[in-house]
Amino acid sequence: MYPITRLRRNRTHRWLRDLVAENILMPENLIYPLFVVEGTNVREEIETMPGIYRLSIDQIIYETSQAESLGIRAIALFPCVDSKLKTAEADEAYNPDNLICRTIKALKQSGITIGIICDVALDPYTSHGHDGIVIDNDVDNDVTIKVLCKQAVALCKAGADIIAPSDMMDGRVSALREALDNEGYTQRAILSYAAKYASSFYGPFRDAIGSSTNLKKGSKATYQMDPRNLQEAIREIELDIQEGADMVLIKPGMPYLDVIRDAANIFSIPIFAYQVSGEYAMLKHGALAKCFDFMSVMIESLLACKRAGATAIFTYAALEVARELQNKPR
Ligand code: PBG
Repeated sequence: MYPITRLRRNRTHRWLRDLVAENILMPENLIYPLFVVEGTNVREEIETMPGIYRLSIDQIIYETSQAESLGIRAIALFPCVDSKLKTAEADEAYNPDNLICRTIKALKQSGITIGIICDVALDPYTSHGHDGIVIDNDVDNDVTIKVLCKQAVALCKAGADIIAPSDMMDGRVSALREALDNEGYTQRAILSYAAKYASSFYGPFRDAIGSSTNLKKGSKATYQMDPRNLQEAIREIELDIQEGADMVLIKPGMPYLDVIRDAANIFSIPIFAYQVSGEYAMLKHGALAKCFDFMSVMIESLLACKRAGATAIFTYAALEVARELQNKPR
């Protein structure tokens, strides 16, 4: 007890604080999400996400090589699909020459060695902006799964290393595993968005890929999780592990740290967190309004995800943070 015990003693020096630190943020923990568009030499800033761009394939290669040289271990690709190619059945999702497949091939040809994670969901390709095929006014689970399997196989053929289903259909992890194994892709991993909430923090992302106008006021509440629930997230994760997921993802990040912590306590599977577009936008706009220093709040919020139990974190600030960590590790 005080005065013998003084917890401030271990905080006396920077070197001592480093020795007793329970978590360290490293570029190796970061996954860099990137938005791809058609064209060459395109860098189109996303209005609601200052500092984040839609990039043409050549720029994606440049950005990825930067990420690689800074120690980032994977990128995650999201396509901004021309609205003319969007249909009710999302046919473009499994076109072997679609934008995303061409991007993967170009990246592999360029000789990059870091992982390529590809989202599996239909929202970039549907005219209505939903993650699946709509029948009788709702996304049909089993019909959607069939299309997701075709999409995942096309992505693996192009060279995707990790398939990341983000659609929240029931049973899609086992169906995807079977589809990939049948094609001989037994070593391609599945990162399941196991607990993905129906969150308003996805707003800027939907602007970025151009699905917000299509979705209009449509809600994803019949497939994404209810923000009121935690027990259900544990059930979702449990099922995805049984179905063969290699890692599970919790999304968004900071508003759902309790889910990350519980999942890390309960399961022995790698847990990833996704600091989503709205979280990035909040910190960026707050910093632009001079509320705080961007890098400080960004690193603090990424550390929060690590402390909660995530081994890797998707963040739009990955490149900026990795640069910062080069100079000043935390
Ligand atoms: C698509 C998908 C979304 C995000 C990742 N994959 C949006 C959504 O579900 O509406 C959100 C990412 C972000 O906000 O950064 N299924």
